[in-house]
Amino acid sequence: MTFVNEKNFKIVCENVWKVFGPNPQRIIENWSEYQDMDKVQRLDETGCVVGARQADFKVERGEIYCLMGLSGSGKSTLLRCVNRLHEPTAGTISIDDQDITQLTQNQLREFRRAKTGMVFQHFALLPHRKVIANVAFGLEIQGVSKAEREQSALEAIELVGLKGWENSYPYELSGGMQQRVGLARALAPDPEILLMDEAFSALDPLIRRQLQDEFVSLIKQVQKTILFVTHDLNEALRIAGHIAIMKDGAIVQQGRPADIVLHPTPGYVEEFVRDLPKIKFITAHDIMESPDPWLQSKDMTLESVRNNMEEARDRFNFLVDENNRVIKIIDYYRLGEIETDPQSPCPPDAYPCRFPLETATTNTFLEELLQLGADSKVPIVVNDDQGRIKGIITREILLTALTSA
Ligand SMILES: Nc1ncnc2c1ncn2[C@@H]1O[C@H](COP(=O)(O)OP(=O)(O)O)[C@@H](O)[C@H]1O
Ligand SMILES: [Mg+2]
Repeated sequence: MTFVNEKNFKIVCENVWKVFGPNPQRIIENWSEYQDMDKVQRLDETGCVVGARQADFKVERGEIYCLMGLSGSGKSTLLRCVNRLHEPTAGTISIDDQDITQLTQNQLREFRRAKTGMVFQHFALLPHRKVIANVAFGLEIQGVSKAEREQSALEAIELVGLKGWENSYPYELSGGMQQRVGLARALAPDPEILLMDEAFSALDPLIRRQLQDEFVSLIKQVQKTILFVTHDLNEALRIAGHIAIMKDGAIVQQGRPADIVLHPTPGYVEEFVRDLPKIKFITAHDIMESPDPWLQSKDMTLESVRNNMEEARDRFNFLVDENNRVIKIIDYYRLGEIETDPQSPCPPDAYPCRFPLETATTNTFLEELLQLGADSKVPIVVNDDQGRIKGIITREILLTALTSA
């Protein structure tokens, strides 16, 4: 079977296992015998610990993907399989469609150098080196010339907001700033993928929130793909494009933050998200309905536009161009004012409408949609990044969302 990477995923993990201990393969092959044991019992019987099992997940290019779970759930183990700091016991890990479990040691070294960077909870800065030398450290090991590595280091330092601190020593910096140095050090060699393990977990809540927000915009700017481990659900919900929730080495649910909060799998995840304010996570994507019945092509004759609207009994429709971009609101009550020939298409500007077009994107939160919807009789148009209409949100939909959340 050939694998089609339809969405252009950067990292694809399939059925990844990591079993620590002797003869680990037998645990995988006879999993049904061992699955009901708890960790201690399994260790007693087999001498093995299952770090990660049957893990399937895909990370989109340029996104932050979070592995979230309690301590001991297997997050770090899985993360470390992705650059083979741990050798996976079974499964495949494809990066840019190349199975990295097949790389030789030399290829692996080159792969790590060219594609990955790591950031840990404890910053592990070299205390006797200035910020700039810490940030340039990875490049120095790679044999990059002094001028070149200092240039890259300065750029990374500026990216993380530490410009002006190049010549300070780590002990002169706060915890938050030290972690910025750690981030700059990982970014300086310009890797395509960052593997981050509890990178913000040691920081005070306030500093942490600030770093999370800055990190999200930084990553958009530099277009890196991030695999981010955290035990903090709120952190994951804040920064992730997608989240995998882990328990006992396995992924129990994955999806967008809103999927996890609004549609948790019964049991473990449901308990986990129970106290979260669900309404805060509802986006246009979750409630919009298909725009198709609301759209009229700009090439249609005025007469067929009128007939369609009469049949659907909608006061408002939207005129779209050939790319499904909305160019005008059509107000049924005012079609009578148009003077063009009913047998030919009406120029968009000739449709009279005094209502403004309210638009959102699929990621717009309910709170903002309510503000848009409050002032408008016309349904809200939900567009994709390219401005093409993907959905429609009426007042009725907004009210239903409010009452059912
Ligand atoms: N090197 C190792 N040798 C043996 N067991 C390990 C090793 N690393 C992790 N484990 C075990 O694997 C499980 C998952 O650990 P880990 O991936 O560190 O969890 P997390 O990062 O979610 O806290 C735990 O039971 C842990 O004790
Ligand atoms: Mg860990």
